[in-house]
Amino acid sequence: MSADVRNIDALSTQTRRYPPPEGFAATANATAAIYDAGLEEFWAAEATQRLDWATPFETVLRWEPPYAQWFLGGKLNAAYNCVDRWVERGHGDRIAYHVVPDDGPAAAGCRDLTYAELQRHVVRFANGLRSLGVGKGTPVGIYLQMVPELPIAMLACARLGAPHTVVFGGYSGKAVAERVADMGCTVLVTQDEAMRAGRTWPRKANADEGLAGGATQVEHVVVLRRTGADVPMQDGRDRYWDDLVADVSDDPRSCPCEPMDSEDLLFLLYTSGTTGKPKGVVHTTAGYLLGAATTHHYVFDLRPESVYWCAADVGWITGHTYIVYGPLANGATSVLYEGTPAHPGRDVWWSIIEKYGVDILYTSPTAIRAHMKWGPQYAQAHDLTSLRVLGSVGEPINPEAWEWYRTHVGGGTCPVVDTWWQTETGHILITRLPGVTTLKPGSATKPFPGVDAAVYDDAGNVVGPGGGGNLVLRRPWPGMMRGLFHDDARYRESYWSKYPDAYFAGDGARVDEDGDFWLMGRIDDVTNVSGHRISTIEVESALVSHPAVAEAAVTGRADHDTGQAIVAFVSLTGDDTGSAELATTLREHVAQQIGKLARPAEIIFAPELPKTRSGKIMRRLLKNVAEDEPLGDTSTLVDPSVVETMQAQVARAARDD
Ligand code: WT7
Repeated sequence: MSADVRNIDALSTQTRRYPPPEGFAATANATAAIYDAGLEEFWAAEATQRLDWATPFETVLRWEPPYAQWFLGGKLNAAYNCVDRWVERGHGDRIAYHVVPDDGPAAAGCRDLTYAELQRHVVRFANGLRSLGVGKGTPVGIYLQMVPELPIAMLACARLGAPHTVVFGGYSGKAVAERVADMGCTVLVTQDEAMRAGRTWPRKANADEGLAGGATQVEHVVVLRRTGADVPMQDGRDRYWDDLVADVSDDPRSCPCEPMDSEDLLFLLYTSGTTGKPKGVVHTTAGYLLGAATTHHYVFDLRPESVYWCAADVGWITGHTYIVYGPLANGATSVLYEGTPAHPGRDVWWSIIEKYGVDILYTSPTAIRAHMKWGPQYAQAHDLTSLRVLGSVGEPINPEAWEWYRTHVGGGTCPVVDTWWQTETGHILITRLPGVTTLKPGSATKPFPGVDAAVYDDAGNVVGPGGGGNLVLRRPWPGMMRGLFHDDARYRESYWSKYPDAYFAGDGARVDEDGDFWLMGRIDDVTNVSGHRISTIEVESALVSHPAVAEAAVTGRADHDTGQAIVAFVSLTGDDTGSAELATTLREHVAQQIGKLARPAEIIFAPELPKTRSGKIMRRLLKNVAEDEPLGDTSTLVDPSVVETMQAQVARAARDD
């Protein structure tokens, strides 16, 4: 399995150690004493200091497995904590976002959004939404690119107490409609077109196509003008954002922040599971916001003068927590970049860091490996001395990429924080703290204070140092999911059926003699492509929905650039044996059904998929074929020759590359 290969890779450099840089520890937000407090004690102290409450909480934690409730009795508003309180405290002129458009930091469209301006935009949009009937408890769908209106829309919802679901801009209209219908959204916020890598891409048209096929409960579509393209507008349903807010007040008193119970729903974020239907991960107000803000403060060693940049997309949990809720709840200044790493040039990231004096950068191993492939000359051409802390998230970071990041971006001195967490965990759970932890390239190191992680074997025993097993969490944490939307059975089955007393994360891990955690990738039918979780079954359903496909099985194989790549095994209807053209058609079909991120890297046609006598596809074998590894026992197959034919195809494809 690819995770083992990576782990061997990790072992070879496991002996390297990087203690905190001198001087860093002396002034760091976190000192070693942070680990001393008890779990509830730690989070209660943070909740009291870090958040503003309309009504203080009475009970820190109520734990009725598998459901946790935090800060009961308390009332607060997430948007108030992210925006209004900073203005009220006299920080209205502080920059919330340096907004960098697709054309990069030299483009005319750059602008700075202060906390006071952010507040006015949020109030106006909240008033606009109110005029459409949105109020406390009205679910709202958001399908926007990395424009400032994305955080504005999220915060406007939070202000009203309207839960949101953000759908990643790269998803297809069908995927949008499915999520919006599941949550029961009556309003969808989108944009005319997206700008990415110097090109325009349809968004409103995607949304229309998706809505036409489902999600009929959507009564209003709000359309942001990003490119000004002429897009069809449906009478009575569609309104332009600027028209909606043209005549409304931007005075915060015209739209007070709704005091919400700690456990009121803040948002749903849909993520892939081991079956086709996306899971609506439930996050509530107080615990999530606290976990986001606390981890953001300590893990990145945030300073009042920091310029922080998380280069993820707000459409994923990383962006929710570490572009929107965490940094704003800390009153931080962030970069919000609309574009991609290679446009207008391969040095665009480094010119952003130079222009704004970014001191904290948070990105993914896939992005680091892309930069590695292009070479260090792009980073070297810019002054990156403002950087102090580098973060990584989304997939295991191979030590080679870790070292490259530290050397060529971090000037050989910046601590590199590998942070492990998930959509379901809400915020970082395993991470080093700069100034405290000695780093090991490839290891996410220790559980964050107030987090109880362990590695279990299949029987639920703790695995000793060096041994591999399943990563579990034994005690609740504030930002943990509060279940799956309207699906208690699936929540219990997915996360709580393997061990009765612990949250099962679905990742393999190892703990070494120092208590440091080494993550080894997913152990279920979920692939991780560029740090994005994609369910193999979702891709299979998309393939089978094409008339030429009789049956499909999908697996992930290790990929040097993207961590994993999707490989699809397809058997066709009739006598068709497949062709390069059909492979292209099918790849596009998947892109249309789900989104480009799910497009298989490789399609292997086979007259039949390998099945056991009971008719089950042997996925383990397909993985071995995809990874070009020995097959092992094939005696349970109905027809072992099926696999040999596939192996020959994989070998041929590799030669043609
Ligand atoms: C899965 C969660 C949380 C933000 C991004 C992805 C993998 C995440 C790491 C890391 C090794 C990691 C895990 C996890 N993962 N961070 N630092 N080291 N693996 O969120 O889509 O919910 O995916 O990403 O496999 O389960 P997500």
